[in-house]
Amino acid sequence: MTTPHLVLADFPANRPRRLRRDDFSRRLVREHSLSVNDLIYPVFVVEGKGIRQPIGSMPDIMRYSPDTLMQVAEECVALGIPVMALFPVIEPNLKALDGAEAMNPKGLIPRVVAELKKRFPELGLLTDVALDPYTSHGQDGVIDENGYVMNDITVKILTQQALVQAEAGVDIVAPSDMMDGRIGAIRQALEANQFIHTRIMAYSAKFASAFYGPFRDAVGSAANLGKSNKLVYQMDPGNIDEALREVAADLREGADMVMVKPGMPYLDVLRRVKDAFRVPTFAYQVSGEYAMLKAAAANGWLDHDKVMMETLLGFKRAGADGILTYFAPAAAKLLKSQ
Ligand code: PBG
Repeated sequence: MTTPHLVLADFPANRPRRLRRDDFSRRLVREHSLSVNDLIYPVFVVEGKGIRQPIGSMPDIMRYSPDTLMQVAEECVALGIPVMALFPVIEPNLKALDGAEAMNPKGLIPRVVAELKKRFPELGLLTDVALDPYTSHGQDGVIDENGYVMNDITVKILTQQALVQAEAGVDIVAPSDMMDGRIGAIRQALEANQFIHTRIMAYSAKFASAFYGPFRDAVGSAANLGKSNKLVYQMDPGNIDEALREVAADLREGADMVMVKPGMPYLDVLRRVKDAFRVPTFAYQVSGEYAMLKAAAANGWLDHDKVMMETLLGFKRAGADGILTYFAPAAAKLLKSQ
């Protein structure tokens, strides 16, 4: 196969700057673009009424109580954002060693899902399947006496958590726990219970990253986790072939969509996953990436809007079909005004 650069004429017959000279021409030959349809907005929900609680490490992001969250959902619908992703802040007295509150059909997430689906049926909803907001130790699963996260027991609880979310009417369940075999177990349980339309977006290549720090503050799991880490289940940041094996396994087990997380430091993983499997592939621009850009913009070191849009376009160019990003409403507003 001829490589594209070999078929080009030489300078001066070829002057790449001709196409860059005018806005019309730059737009005409642009290979990738961002649309509001690419955006998923992660939000934090807390028990209570009238709450809009700022999160120190995530400027402009709040913890919302169910009532104020309805206004956020309304804004998402008005802006055309297709999906909102829900993350719970669980009261300390409901946290336990096994995270059992995650399976409570009357828990915060199932109640919020049911209400949102009733009021905004057209808004897609995604819920996280993992135990970290619910465990007293902040790990994503059940631990043994040495603090090791046990796989198969955890998968049973996660399966029940996913079923409870599906029963509440969620559109997409998104296991973010990185246990082995959880996609297959969840898919089987969904099928066995007639939830044949519930989509699974698998956090397939989720790395043990330091970029999740602000999120753990937001859901209140940071203090529970303390100095522990998630290295025994989340992926080693040095690996990329392993990411392909994880994606392959999740697809065979029944995932409809896969995800690479974090985003910006892992664009190479995203590209390889997209090229290898050609399935709907998503990137999560995580809390630490958001915090980094917000901090630089607040200092006047970076142009907030320009950098935001450039990072989101970068995900598209790297092969993402969509992006989970805390910038979703800001980006959607900007896209609307252009
Ligand atoms: C829970 C979960 C995490 C994130 C999404 N789901 C945290 C973690 O794995 O510790 C991180 C999202 C972000 O940083 O924005 N398993």
